[in-house]
Amino acid sequence: MQDIEQSEWIDHVQRLGDGTVDLFYVDPPFNTGKAQAGDAGSYMDSWATTDAWVEWFGDRIKATIPKIKQTGSVLIHVDWRTSHRVRVLLDELLGEDRFVNHLIWRYGLGGSSPRRFARKHDDILFYCIDPKRYYFEPPMVPATSNRMKGQLKKATDVLDIPTLNNMADERVGYPTQKPLALLKMLVGACCPEDGLVYDPCCGSGTTLVAAKQLGRSFRGCDQNPQAIKVAQDRLALG
Ligand SMILES: C[S@@+](CC[C@H](N)C(=O)[O-])C[C@H]1O[C@@H](n2cnc3c(N)ncnc32)[C@H](O)[C@@H]1O
Repeated sequence: MQDIEQSEWIDHVQRLGDGTVDLFYVDPPFNTGKAQAGDAGSYMDSWATTDAWVEWFGDRIKATIPKIKQTGSVLIHVDWRTSHRVRVLLDELLGEDRFVNHLIWRYGLGGSSPRRFARKHDDILFYCIDPKRYYFEPPMVPATSNRMKGQLKKATDVLDIPTLNNMADERVGYPTQKPLALLKMLVGACCPEDGLVYDPCCGSGTTLVAAKQLGRSFRGCDQNPQAIKVAQDRLALG
């Protein structure tokens, strides 16, 4: 199945069958307090308070959880603004024993300040529905130690993948676009080959393109018509 639609997350998710999603990944607005703008689109990313963001997000997570298979997984992509709140929220909604990993996506650009350590990572919280049954295929990455030089090793919970710079070929001009390499690693690790990936804030469609290239089924939505246009164009290219 390949399906992408312009829709509000909470409306779209109600059209999914219960227990049908293998991997639920979401990269929601981070509550940066400003509009996110690029050449190919823009969206508002501002809530009055962190509590208001958590309430908005929690309502949508609650509506999405029943749609995930017993063998399925949840990946929530956020940053320092809300990761602590999302961890507590998911512990409450799914149970502390469903927590699998706190992944760090470490990137190179941005985040510097003379008043603190430079902020150079996002947080991806990995939960499962059933700790005994969830799918996981460890991604392999090049080893860095001298002893294992030239070999592959299992990826750790710190993912070193460069963010998209202004010259990157895959950049489509949609703000906050994530690298395809990151999404391919996550989809390959957490969704079986015949599985369904769901991304309800798909933006430029990175998750859906990763799923397509890896032969997985996908469903996605975004409330922003500009995002849907960009994502459809990317998906048409393969
Ligand atoms: C951080 S961006 C996603 C970027 C995407 N991962 C990519 O690689 O391009 C968040 C997206 O959520 C969308 N969004 C915000 N609120 C939404 C809602 N209530 N329902 C659906 N989409 C929403 C925005 O339009 C935006 O495209």
